[in-house]
Amino acid sequence: MVEIVYLNGSFIPYSEALVPFEDRGMLFADGIYEVVRAYDGRLFALEGHLQRLVASAQEIQLEIPPAAELQEALLGVMERSGLRDTSIYLQVTRGFAGPRSHGVPQGIRPTVFAAARPVPRPDPRHVAEGARAVTVVDNRWHMCHVKSIGLLLNNLAKQAALDVGAQESLFVREGVVTEGAATNTFAVFGGELWTHPEGPLVLSGITRQIVIELAQAEGIAVREEPYLASRMYGAQEVFVTSTNLEVLPIQSVDGRSIGAGVPGPVTRRLQAAFTRRTAALATV
Ligand code: PDD
Repeated sequence: MVEIVYLNGSFIPYSEALVPFEDRGMLFADGIYEVVRAYDGRLFALEGHLQRLVASAQEIQLEIPPAAELQEALLGVMERSGLRDTSIYLQVTRGFAGPRSHGVPQGIRPTVFAAARPVPRPDPRHVAEGARAVTVVDNRWHMCHVKSIGLLLNNLAKQAALDVGAQESLFVREGVVTEGAATNTFAVFGGELWTHPEGPLVLSGITRQIVIELAQAEGIAVREEPYLASRMYGAQEVFVTSTNLEVLPIQSVDGRSIGAGVPGPVTRRLQAAFTRRTAALATV
């Protein structure tokens, strides 16, 4: 089957989705993106994703198409993919403005691309028994709240985990755990759920926000406060969240077991609550 993707207002075969080599996305990673999940043919947390895209665009002075158009693109690629459970990638770059030149060109058309892909699901063993994580120094910029396509340091961090047989890296900036290479990270201390506060050092994860709300509804105290990596090793539980991984337990960090080395009760409750939330979507 020919894959149909969205490019600049048209649904076209992937092989025809071509942009000039000197698109600003290529030259400068001058662009932003979203990853949106669909469960049983319904876009999950769409409003949050579109709001975050608008916020990212404002931060980098990028004009993006109206939300309705972006929603059409997301729905359009999903419908044409035949996938009801899918992970949809949406990217907006500043577009092509001629030969490479610094500064921010005005009045050019952004390049908008979307594709619906099979969900890169975590290994079911890791969902059930916990994944392994390592820590890496967080040398990224101070605008991590912008969902920038400039992910080189995130990719190197992820690879550092894969190189040692782990699944995710947790960034540590000046001793503080910020977030994962492609996830937000949570730790349970004394029954309370801790996660780094929103701001320029982390991406405001859509899943993070939903998990915070689910935890509060479950009567679990949530502290959006920084915590030290040295403290995390002694946490009762650690887990990470993202659109694709949902709530993924972490059984060890840097080879040191977290709690009993198996997913703990808070993680279990939140995994179950998250699954209920996504299942409820299908019945709306
Ligand atoms: N990444 N932090 C970073 C650095 C991320 O890249 C992501 C998601 C998250 C979690 O955000 P959300 O819950 O909104 O997915 C946090 C996406 C999925 C990706 O790059 O593929």
